[in-house]
Amino acid sequence: MQMQSHLLSYHVVIIGTGLAGLATAIYLAEAAALSNQNISILLVSKAAASDTNTNWAQGGIAAVASDEDSFEAHILDTLDAGAGKNDLHIVRKVIEAAPDAMQDLIRWGIDLDKKVDGTYDLVKEGGHQFSRIWHKADSTGHTLQATLMHRVSQFKSIICIENTAIVQIEKDAQGTFHIQAISNHTSDQTYPILTVKNCIHIQCAQLVLATGGLGMVYEKTTNQSIATGDGIVFASKLGAILKDLSFVQFHPTALYEANQSGTYLITEALRGEGAILRNIEGVDFMPQYDARASLAPRDIVSRAIMCEIKKSKSEYVYLDATGLSVSTIQKHFPNIQSVCQQKSGIDICKQWIPVVPVEHYACGGVQVDEFGGVVGVEALYAIGEVASTGLHGANRLASNSLIEGIVFAKWAAIKMMNALSHDTALPISAYHFKPILVKKIDRTLVQNCLSNYAGIEKTTADLIKGFNELSQVYQEANTLKHWSLKEWENDLLCQVGILIFKDALAQTENKGVFFNLDFD
Ligand code: SIN
Repeated sequence: MQMQSHLLSYHVVIIGTGLAGLATAIYLAEAAALSNQNISILLVSKAAASDTNTNWAQGGIAAVASDEDSFEAHILDTLDAGAGKNDLHIVRKVIEAAPDAMQDLIRWGIDLDKKVDGTYDLVKEGGHQFSRIWHKADSTGHTLQATLMHRVSQFKSIICIENTAIVQIEKDAQGTFHIQAISNHTSDQTYPILTVKNCIHIQCAQLVLATGGLGMVYEKTTNQSIATGDGIVFASKLGAILKDLSFVQFHPTALYEANQSGTYLITEALRGEGAILRNIEGVDFMPQYDARASLAPRDIVSRAIMCEIKKSKSEYVYLDATGLSVSTIQKHFPNIQSVCQQKSGIDICKQWIPVVPVEHYACGGVQVDEFGGVVGVEALYAIGEVASTGLHGANRLASNSLIEGIVFAKWAAIKMMNALSHDTALPISAYHFKPILVKKIDRTLVQNCLSNYAGIEKTTADLIKGFNELSQVYQEANTLKHWSLKEWENDLLCQVGILIFKDALAQTENKGVFFNLDFD
């Protein structure tokens, strides 16, 4: 049966509209305007353009900016958090580029918090020796998302299409990427894919995966619902190398809500301002685990919390922010204050907040070179959480991810501009996609499997059990004749889950976020 699809062609297609995707588009458009090149850029988002993890980031952006601080100190903190599994060359390159990237954000109009003397109000988070986190109260990501979307809208060379799900990517012998996308989908609409009317065929010369994380593979995550590991599966099918997929970071402090799947993040910046963790008996337990106490790197804090939870048979510990002044809470944490009140009836100025660790960030991902180019796949880039750049090692230092996204966006844009010479023609060629086969997978089963067998503390027996269970489920699942986007995502989540178990079983030592009780 003939595919009824519209054909679109661009020099560059960027999948994802969080910080990484938006910044890549802006740097490309700026460079093209400067060199008088006619480069067409398509930004595609699966949901609304602002439905991204970036939009919900609370903490901030790490970049050295004060006299007491130094690149060496930021490098040391990054390596210490990453348990030395980082790529030192990349760590230095990112950290030294960070202050200039902040100037780009300022040039694009970002409004971050300042002190009364007009200098930027830098704060501290776990694992940082010095205050170097640039922020906008407790909603930095929202400001960042709005600033970048506004800047994108100033370029005619950038087209942004929302609610458009990319469901297939192939590359032909000439090096052109062929992308199949479904526009204006609704989550439960089903597609007899070979006759779908709202299917778009997009071609491009350079492709950027800025698809974000994979948090939906776990029962509880701070990620948004779009975070289903799409880029991981696309890249893998195109021949990319996946690295350290089991280095999944759990954020120590999400708001605990009994019988709720909701996972509202309580920023680490609250601990940076002096909030402390207490166990169910009210004991300030972190000094027993690490000299940096509540401000230790998050792998250490998450494991300590799990230990306290196990010992006390409770379901949570407390975050005590009652020592902070009311004015500090109101000025720096207004959203957390109001959400805790609304969701749990807690006045954080007077009451301790029940918290629990939840999935937060994929430290591993698609292996890229120092320009964000996917190793082994020409003209394919992975920027942001989807990528494994070498910066984070075995555990990402708080607030290092937004800065990583910006600087790699810049370097990838430079490399793409070099590849797109003045007369690069738009790719237009006939192409027949392979059929998309979607298996019927139970999302809850996948999430239970990952949460039970690949959580903060793992055992080899559990990992084998999880791997075998998911592999069998996937092998035996029926292929759907008609499928919805949600079902397509469920299939993806199962594939990502299997890859996480596979990677975890290949690890040989405990480092950073990876902790197998059998190795101790
Ligand atoms: C936070 O605000 O605690 C999260 C920041 C981050 O994950 O880098």
